[in-house]
Amino acid sequence: MTSNTRIVLSSDHAAIEMRQAIAAHIKALGWEVVDIGPTSPESTHYPIHGQAAAHKVASGDCRFGIILCGTGQGIMMAANKVAGVRCGVCLDTFSARMIRAHNDANMLSIGARVVGEGLALDLVDAFLTTEFEAGRHATRVDMIEGASA
Ligand code: RB5
Repeated sequence: MTSNTRIVLSSDHAAIEMRQAIAAHIKALGWEVVDIGPTSPESTHYPIHGQAAAHKVASGDCRFGIILCGTGQGIMMAANKVAGVRCGVCLDTFSARMIRAHNDANMLSIGARVVGEGLALDLVDAFLTTEFEAGRHATRVDMIEGASA
């Protein structure tokens, strides 16, 4: 595990309960949780929450980010606008592993209206326990970063 053990969590109103379940889960695994998401069920705007989390990862303040909205899609799109952030939406554990292994993803997005809590926690585990394989994949990740420079 990296020496930076901080994970930022955020979501919109559609995913508050799932975010809280993930917070408890990763805290129990020894990660420090920086939960910046809303706690009220009032309707809010996912780009605000996705980008606030993305800035914490891009600045190096947090090692990883986990973000959620109804589908996971909108908040992922918003996060990926921040340079240095590589965020994927995952609905299956294979993808959650591969975005770390091949894409060096530093953020995971989950759709709280798409997956149940059990799968969401498995996605988080798959993401957090997989190392980037580097090698030829590093060349490709560098190409992604070049495109956003
Ligand atoms: C909110 O209703 C919903 O649009 C949002 O949570 C998300 O699914 C957007 O991508």
